[in-house]
Amino acid sequence: MHNTIEKAEGKLGILTPGLGAVATTLIAGVEAVKKNLAQPVGSLTQMGNIRLGKRTENRNPKIKDFVPLADLNDIVFGGWDVYNDNVFEAALKAKVIEPMMLHAVKSELEAIKPMKAVFDRSYVSNLDGDHIKQAATKADLAQMVMDDIENFKEANDCSRMVLVWCGSTEIYLEPSAAHETIESFEEGLRNNNPAIAPSMIYAYAAIKLGVPFMNGAPNLTCDIPALIELAKQTNTPIGGKDFKTGQTLMKTILAPGLQARALGVKGWFSSNILGNRDGYVLDHPDNFKTKEVSKLSVLEDIFQPETNPELYGDIYHKVRINYYPPAGDNKESWDNIDIFGWMGYQMQIKVNFLCRDSILAAPLVLDLALFSDLAKRAGMSGIQEWLSFYFKSPQTAPGLHPEHDIFKQLIKLQNTLRHLMGEDLITHLGLEYYEDLTEVL
Ligand SMILES: NC(=O)c1ccc[n+]([C@@H]2O[C@H](COP(=O)([O-])OP(=O)(O)OC[C@H]3O[C@@H](n4cnc5c(N)ncnc54)[C@H](O)[C@@H]3O)[C@@H](O)[C@H]2O)c1
Repeated sequence: MHNTIEKAEGKLGILTPGLGAVATTLIAGVEAVKKNLAQPVGSLTQMGNIRLGKRTENRNPKIKDFVPLADLNDIVFGGWDVYNDNVFEAALKAKVIEPMMLHAVKSELEAIKPMKAVFDRSYVSNLDGDHIKQAATKADLAQMVMDDIENFKEANDCSRMVLVWCGSTEIYLEPSAAHETIESFEEGLRNNNPAIAPSMIYAYAAIKLGVPFMNGAPNLTCDIPALIELAKQTNTPIGGKDFKTGQTLMKTILAPGLQARALGVKGWFSSNILGNRDGYVLDHPDNFKTKEVSKLSVLEDIFQPETNPELYGDIYHKVRINYYPPAGDNKESWDNIDIFGWMGYQMQIKVNFLCRDSILAAPLVLDLALFSDLAKRAGMSGIQEWLSFYFKSPQTAPGLHPEHDIFKQLIKLQNTLRHLMGEDLITHLGLEYYEDLTEVL
């Protein structure tokens, strides 16, 4: 298969709808890495290794040396936002990266100015920016986004483009008739159907052009039949939803461990305080509902109470997000986990994670951009389930339940890379190391 992967030649344009805390932290970080001022910690594509062959072969290259990924020096960033601050100003306001470091990459960041957004306050009422496209229909807006993508590609001499949604979380929407087919979706675009949210317009524009689209928020966006179908038609990799950071990252590390040891769980109470703009948007109940649905499904899918009712049939799971401005981007979360062991004896685990939300999210955006570009060059289209590793609420083929266990997600990701490069898949059976022993047995 690796013979058929197109080389990562030329420049890769990474566009993000939303140039807020996450996107500006990504861009400033990549510029700092390029100047040797920082390390891309947390990025599997840059710092992760992959084992190849048998353990006795001692082959463990860096992922970026194993698969043909775009080089950081070949990346050009751009994006859209409802505020017209350039990336330097937006990064200063986000207060994630220290001003001294931002000044070291000031000229690169100042040069990135947001394009006008496709935005409608009825989907995110807590924002009031006015850097917004005006058009009679959603179809016109989609065309304007397609023009933006094409113009950016040409102006920056890019050979390939990808989009990663880093915009705010929109209000909760259920899949409906307008989302069913490409025809009904396009009719909805022409008729300004309210079921079509701004994030879907960006997704449609990208997919229509064959540009990979990854969704970092819990909105439906490209997780609707119409856009899944369009992605197949246009050979476009898509994926979502909701970057797996912070508390959910911890959950998908801890829960598989408890389940692996057949320990029971009675309750899991998760509380967060968060003071950035994301927290402010999520302070609105309609936007929180979208996030809540994304966060709640994780435990159910890992524990599968229906297959193991004695251990997990009666879990009380609650998630709270509280907007608390003094915390800024430094989210603090508390988890109280009530578990039980041998003969039902109860125990408790308390987790207090003082995390930095955007510091955890930025490397995920980079990896998703680089891997979705790889997928495109390898001819993989539609839902990229092997990228579930990065998402709280992974998009899967209809009828499949998503895999949330981070370790299984990693095995799938690594095996996909091995498969792409014509290496043996690793099953972790390892019986061949003990062949003498098994022959005796
Ligand atoms: N930081 C994390 O750890 C994390 C984890 C999972 C998901 N997310 C999601 O990622 C997204 C970005 O998070 P953030 O912390 O950067 O938030 P943020 O509020 O700092 O940035 C979002 C930006 O998107 C802009 N925006 C909103 N709607 C837009 C539209 N239609 N078009 C263009 N721009 C638009 C806003 O003006 C804002 O500048 C949020 O949806 C958040 O829920 C973040």
